[in-house]
Amino acid sequence: MSAPPDGGTLPPPDVWPRPEGGASNDLAAFEAEFAAIATARGFAPERLGDALGHAITRWQRPADAAPDGAPRLLIASGFHGNESAGPWGLVLALRLLPQALLARVHLSLLPLVSGSGFTAGRRLNALGQNPNRGMGGHGGAHAPSAEGEVLLRHGERLAAAARDGVLACHEDLTRPWAYVYSFEPQATPGPFSQCLVAAGARWFTLAPDGDVDGCTVRGGLIHNHFDGSFECWMTECGAAVAACIETPGRADFARRTQAQAAMVLEFLAQRAPG
Ligand code: NI
Repeated sequence: MSAPPDGGTLPPPDVWPRPEGGASNDLAAFEAEFAAIATARGFAPERLGDALGHAITRWQRPADAAPDGAPRLLIASGFHGNESAGPWGLVLALRLLPQALLARVHLSLLPLVSGSGFTAGRRLNALGQNPNRGMGGHGGAHAPSAEGEVLLRHGERLAAAARDGVLACHEDLTRPWAYVYSFEPQATPGPFSQCLVAAGARWFTLAPDGDVDGCTVRGGLIHNHFDGSFECWMTECGAAVAACIETPGRADFARRTQAQAAMVLEFLAQRAPG
C-alpha cells in the first residue's frame, strides 16, 4: 500500500546494507543464497502456497535423513518484513550447523513467510496485515493475514513438523535489547527457555525486567503469553515447546544476523542433545 489509512505518509523502509554487499531486503539474493545452502545441506523445497504474489516455501530433508524417533523441529522466519536478520540469520545458521546435529533431527524450515513485507522493508504485509496474528484459538478479533491463511491450510502437517519444538525468528525495531517469548507446559520457564535467553545475552543486552507491549518480561523472558502468533498456534496444536526470539532490530546488521544464527543453533542443540 502506498499510504496508511489516515492519509499520512509511510516512514522510510527499514533496510540495511549487508556486509557481503547488497541490501537486507534483496529478495532475489536471499532466495538464491537460501536455496544454495539449503540444497547443499540436503533440504528440498515444497511450495505451500502464494500470499500476495510471493510463494511461501517449506524446506525439509528426506524422511530417512534422520532416525524415525529423532526430534521433529520447525523453524520459521520472515513474518515481519523489516526484521530481516531473522531470514539472513537462518542462512548463516545453515552454513554453521554441524553435520552431526543436522543428522539427528527432522528439521523443517519456513525461511520467509512474508515476501511482500521483506521486499518493502516493512513490518506488515502489502495489505497492511500483521502476518503473525490471528492464528489459532487465541487469534481473537484479528483475521488471519494472507500469509496466515496459507499456513493455516497446512496446519496439521506443520504441527507434525513442530512436534518437539518450534522456533520463530523475530526482531524488535523499537527496543535496544534481546529477549524471548517462550511457551512451555509448566508455568516456570525451564532449560529450553533459559538457554535461548542465555544465547541472546552473549550478543546483546537483555531487556530489563518490566513491560514489553503489555507483557511482563523477567530475566529476558516473556513466558506463556498466548497471543494468536504462529508459535502460540503451534503450541495449541501440540508442539512440546515453542519460542519467538527477538534481537534489537536497529543494532548492527551483521551482529544481529550472527545472534539470530547462534540462537537457532542453540535451539537445535537444546532439543537434540548429542
Ligand atoms: Ni516480529
